[in-house]
Amino acid sequence: MNIGVLNSGGDSPGLNAVIEGVVGAASRRGWNVVGFYDGFEGLLSEEGDERFEWLTPAACRGLRAKGGTILGTVNKGNFAIKVGVDQKGAIEPAVLEKTKATVRRLGLDALIVVGGDGSQSTALLLSEIGLPVVGVPKTIDNDLGATDVTFGFYSAVSIVSESLDRLETTANAHQRMMVVEVMGRHAGWIALEGGIAGSADVILLPEIPFSLENVVECIKARKAAGQREILVVVSEGARLADELVLLDEKTQGEVRLGGIGKVIAKKLEEATGIETRSCVLGHIQRGGSPCSYDRILGTRFGSYAVELVEKRQFSCMVALRGTQMTAVPIEEAVKTLKLVDPDCQLVRTARDLGVCFGD
Ligand code: F6P
Repeated sequence: MNIGVLNSGGDSPGLNAVIEGVVGAASRRGWNVVGFYDGFEGLLSEEGDERFEWLTPAACRGLRAKGGTILGTVNKGNFAIKVGVDQKGAIEPAVLEKTKATVRRLGLDALIVVGGDGSQSTALLLSEIGLPVVGVPKTIDNDLGATDVTFGFYSAVSIVSESLDRLETTANAHQRMMVVEVMGRHAGWIALEGGIAGSADVILLPEIPFSLENVVECIKARKAAGQREILVVVSEGARLADELVLLDEKTQGEVRLGGIGKVIAKKLEEATGIETRSCVLGHIQRGGSPCSYDRILGTRFGSYAVELVEKRQFSCMVALRGTQMTAVPIEEAVKTLKLVDPDCQLVRTARDLGVCFGD
C-alpha cells in the first residue's frame, strides 16, 4: 500500500508530529508513505520536477519536537476552489488531470490531508476523482466544531501566557498598561485560555462584543485599588458591542492581524490617562517547538488517520472527543465553527477571577 501525506494552509505546531505518526503507523503495517511538498502543489509533480519525498521512520525520528513542517505548506495556490454560478465548487480541470497523473505514477492508494476547513473541502473534491482521502484537522485557533482540540492550540496558549508573564514585570515596573493582540479571527479561544493562564485583567473576544466604557471603568477601578500594571488581551477578531462605532476608521473596522490591539491601546490610553504600550504576538504564536500536548495529539492524529485508511473509512476526518480518537465525515466536520459560548464554564471561571470581558 502507498499512502500520501500533505499539509495545507497556515502552519501550526504539531504538523511534524502528525507526519511522524503517519509514517510510524504506516511502516508498522509494511506500507510506504510519500510526503508532498507545499500542500496540494506537490501533487502537480512531473518527471524531472519531483515535489515529493518517500518518508522513512528513520528519517522522521524525533520530528515531533520540531516546529513548522518538513513538507512546507501553501495556503491555496493552484487548488483554490472556483465557485461557479451554480455555487458548486470545483478545481480547474487541468490541475485535476495533472493530479491524476501523479496518483497513477506513484501508485497512490490513499491520501492523508492535514488542513483546515478549506483544505478538507479540497480533499473531498479529490476523493471525487478516485483518490480516497482521510482528513486531519489543523487550526491553531481551535475553532473546528468536530474535534475537542486541534494541535498547535496549546503551544499558542503557552506563548500567550509566557508573554503575559514577561509583560507583567515591565508593566509593573513602569505602572503601564499593556495591550496584547493575539490570534483568533472568528473564535477567541487563544485569547481566553492564554489570558486566564497569564492573569489578564481584560480579555476581549469576537464572541463577547465589548464596550470601551465598560473596559475603562474596570481599569480605573483596578488602578484606584492600587494595582500598578494592567494587562489587556485582545483577540484579533474582537469587536465592539455597538457595531456602528468603528474601531479603526482607516480600515472601516475591518479586522486585520496586527491592527486592532494598537487601536484599542490608543483609545484606552486616551480614556484612562494610563501610559500604554501595545504588542502583537502574531506568528510567534505559530512558530517554534510544539508543547508536549501538541506533540502527542499530532502523533495520535497521524497514527489514527492510518488506522482509518486500514479500515477503508475514507472521506472522514480524525477528531478528538474526550480522550478518544474518532472519525467524522469531512462534509459534516467543515460545517461547524466552534465559538466561545459567553456563558460557558471557562468564561464564568474567568469572571469569578475578576476578568473583565467588557460586556
Ligand atoms: O487561522 C489561523 C490564523 O493563525 C489566524 O488566527 C490569523 O489571522 C491567520 O491565520 C494568519 O494567517 P497568515 O499566516 O496567512 O498571515
